Amino acid sequence: MPRFAAPTPSAVPVWLAAPGAWDAIQASIGATAAAFAQACGFKAKPGQIQLLPGEDGRLAGALFGVEAEGVGRDPLAAGKLATSLPEGVYRFANPPADAALAALGFLMALYRYDRFKADAAGKPRLVAPEGVDADRIERIAEAVAFGRDLVNAPANVLGPGALEQAATRLADDFGAEARVTRGDDLMAANFPLVHAVGRAAAEAPRVVDIAWGRRDAPKVTLVGKGVTFDSGGLDIKPASGMELMKKDMGGAATALALARLVMESGLDVRLRVVTPIVENAVAGGAMRPGDVIVSRKGLAVEIGNTDAEGRLILADALALADEDAPDLMIDFATLTGAARVALGPDLPPFYTDDDALAAAIADAAARARDPMWRMPLWRPYEAMIDGTVGDVSNSGTGAGMAGSITAALFLRRFVDKAKAWVHFDVYAWNPKARAHGPAGGEIQAARALFELLSERYPKR
Ligand code: BES
Ligand code: ZN
Ligand code: ZN
Repeated sequence: MPRFAAPTPSAVPVWLAAPGAWDAIQASIGATAAAFAQACGFKAKPGQIQLLPGEDGRLAGALFGVEAEGVGRDPLAAGKLATSLPEGVYRFANPPADAALAALGFLMALYRYDRFKADAAGKPRLVAPEGVDADRIERIAEAVAFGRDLVNAPANVLGPGALEQAATRLADDFGAEARVTRGDDLMAANFPLVHAVGRAAAEAPRVVDIAWGRRDAPKVTLVGKGVTFDSGGLDIKPASGMELMKKDMGGAATALALARLVMESGLDVRLRVVTPIVENAVAGGAMRPGDVIVSRKGLAVEIGNTDAEGRLILADALALADEDAPDLMIDFATLTGAARVALGPDLPPFYTDDDALAAAIADAAARARDPMWRMPLWRPYEAMIDGTVGDVSNSGTGAGMAGSITAALFLRRFVDKAKAWVHFDVYAWNPKARAHGPAGGEIQAARALFELLSERYPKR
């Protein structure tokens, strides 16, 4: 569990050495330690770590080079300490203004997916810096770990049944109501697209609908794409494209991680979480290219490509969530490869028509150091997704152009009552280890939105 260590006088001091601060730090660590650091080539370069010996040969302190305070600095970079320092208890000797984020980076970096491989090495621990909200930081780090675990779980461990269970367990933990619709009941309950995408898999498709909080509080609804494995369906992916597709439930993991934060923090919202859960498999009963399916909302959807399954299950889930006109509806989905082409793995695009909301999200993202970038719901591209036989096509005629935008435009057609709607096309994965987390599953955008929601709807 990513927790802080109890304060102890023996905690080893870690000096965060920003350019310009190095002289002052040398004075406080003493001439011998300063000379030792210099002899070892410590230059206070960002990311540089230097251990300091005490007179008795024990570890007396550590130096860590950080960038100058300000917009350009990434405080989460302090996560490198968690993977570099020897086992022991540490404290920040000179906590900077952004110590809360540095401490969060440290806790997030301690995460490992260890279901199959116990991590034997002892890990360093950090005492919470003075003046930060330690509980809040731990809650965030734990929610991120919870979400990363779901993304990292292989598809044979986390199929539709297990993801349903993770969602309903979370609901139980916080006394939320959970309703599950499974298999052929999806047809009776009017989720034809969820059924069509998931019906070929060995485990039945399902929709989990969670509700929590004061009934007349502002309605905030989260929707997350829960494809536990995306083979592409009959439009099967090549091996290289399938490799990472256990993470195709990253949107659901993000929604659940954010829901956990909202519930644990007791925010004053009526929270709803809708997760359509399927495996996109190949079998005799699979949907085919060219099929036309009338969706929950009544739009006839043409299956241009069975691999564009995420927007299909989201169409029914968004239509459901839209029915009670939420004040704010947010969806998360590992929706397109095109989003990665445009912005790379670290920067999820988000889409909304609400300029004020977009600005508030961008601001919260900057403060939470949870980066993202707004892209446009560009109306002239609507023509690219017009259907030939049906109302709308799930793949369209864009010849691979503007793929993340046309996917967002597709989703928009299923939203009209929500007072505000924002869509996140997340990657949910770190291709390489980063200071604040190992390679593998990542939770993007949830920390920023928690920041925004906790300001808008504080605990009563
Ligand atoms: N899950 C994929 C998108 C994806 C691929 C996300 C790789 C992250 C990394 C999605 O279901 C998909 O296959 N989308 C297709 C849509 C296309 C067929 C219109 C895509 O992006 O190529
Ligand atoms: Zn797909
Ligand atoms: Zn997918």
